[in-house]
Amino acid sequence: MTTARRNLVAGNWKMNGDSAFAAALCADIAAAAADTGAAGGDNTAAANGVDAETTTAADIAVCPPHVLIPAAARALADSAVSIGAQDVDGGDDGAFTGQVSARMLADAGCRYVIVGHSERRALHGESDELAAQKAVAALRHGLRPIVCVGETADERAAGDTEAVVGRQVDALLTAWAAAAPAECAAVDEIVIAYEPVWAIGTGLTATPAEAQQVHAFIRRRLAAFDARLGDCRILYGGSMKPGNAAALINQPDIDGGLIGGASLNAADFLAICRAANSARAGVATGADAA
Ligand code: PGA
Repeated sequence: MTTARRNLVAGNWKMNGDSAFAAALCADIAAAAADTGAAGGDNTAAANGVDAETTTAADIAVCPPHVLIPAAARALADSAVSIGAQDVDGGDDGAFTGQVSARMLADAGCRYVIVGHSERRALHGESDELAAQKAVAALRHGLRPIVCVGETADERAAGDTEAVVGRQVDALLTAWAAAAPAECAAVDEIVIAYEPVWAIGTGLTATPAEAQQVHAFIRRRLAAFDARLGDCRILYGGSMKPGNAAALINQPDIDGGLIGGASLNAADFLAICRAANSARAGVATGADAA
């Protein structure tokens, strides 16, 4: 089996920026994407005259804080750049003060939503099961969840990387399998982000070989559960920068990046997008070799 997974570069702004920052950064990204063809795009590709099915260009998404989504959406209107959110509730509506539902995010123009980021897990006590529930809620409303997994430095040192990542992936698979058939039909819409916790915001990066090893493990795990899941996109995240992006994204099982710090600077983010744009498309997967 050979896949033609399109690379995806998603910018996770975290709790940074304001509406003026969002408008300016998104305007720069939209202009560069249109000029260089750096974005294949998916949600507004037709409006931009890009054939989303055949282009080999990478998909690009920005994930601002919730309240900045409208400013980003205005700046990205008519561009091929998608919008994602950074978190979502696992339910659909109700008395959940402060929460935002997947339906609301879709209504605001989002195409993606990050779930289970290590900062949510570490700082807000989120469990594997809650992250999985959020992913299924996203699928239910036509959003593509970007499900973050990854081990801490201690877990890696103890040789537990595959046990931890496997447990996190299994929670997603269990929730996905238990969901209604309509949600299961959206299988190819799931994105995984492997983000070693020790690499996030630290300047430390997994080597391309270290990252590839875990990505191949994740792909085998997904494919063993359901062959269709072997084609999910698996992004790398954790101090991805212009200088290391190409080497990482050229690995056979790395399908782009989830970018934190470098996504706040248009030049850096666009350099990573260009690296993803020219990286390989359509390769035999780690799952194939298994
Ligand atoms: P970083 O963050 O690129 O700043 O390491 C990545 C992330 O947390 O998604």
